[in-house]
Amino acid sequence: MMETMFELLPDKNCSLCPRLKSFIDENREKFPDKYNAPVPSFGPANAPLLIVGLAPGLRGANFSGRPFTGDYAGDLLYATLLKFGFAKGTYEARIDDGLEMIGTRITNAVKCVPPQNKPTGPEINTCRTFLEQEIKDMQTRSLKIIMSLGLVSHNAVIKATGNKLSAFKFTHGKTHDLGDKLILIDCYHCSRYNTNTRRLTIDMFEDVFKTIKDML
Ligand code: URA
Repeated sequence: MMETMFELLPDKNCSLCPRLKSFIDENREKFPDKYNAPVPSFGPANAPLLIVGLAPGLRGANFSGRPFTGDYAGDLLYATLLKFGFAKGTYEARIDDGLEMIGTRITNAVKCVPPQNKPTGPEINTCRTFLEQEIKDMQTRSLKIIMSLGLVSHNAVIKATGNKLSAFKFTHGKTHDLGDKLILIDCYHCSRYNTNTRRLTIDMFEDVFKTIKDML
């Protein structure tokens, strides 16, 4: 049975970030049959690994209701998770594809879809309370490693764990000791832009998962 922590997630009609709430309202009008709400994390709460992305993509997680589900970044992420045994089943880019996470949970630094894929500083700060609670809760269970996909996620995790940004520079592939027996590993975001420009190659992405596998 998958453990859930619904109390740690924003309400479906969360209005803490007025700009994000109006964007969701707009999209509810435009796409009434889609999810259009804060996207909950996916995977067991007692997982040793937490993967933190940026924010739901408009036509991906925001439409499907599951992080990274339905866009290019998700195609790459879930294929890699399946390859390394962090998930089982088949990824079919929909919430009811039966995919199961193994010892891994996925969340986003910001739970609501932002216009142009860019959350503002205040939105990231506001939503961090949910990330903070989620990390704390998972630490009371089995959390050992957080994988940050990109700089926004890295910064959110550093702050959410009470650490100082100046002491932890985002570096692809690097592990950081966050204290309290928690390790952060940085990875460039698996976006189409990053793979097209070869900032992140498939080998580089897989190497990060190999490092995580060795550490767990
Ligand atoms: N989808 C997500 O849920 N998060 C991202 O960071 C990118 C795509």
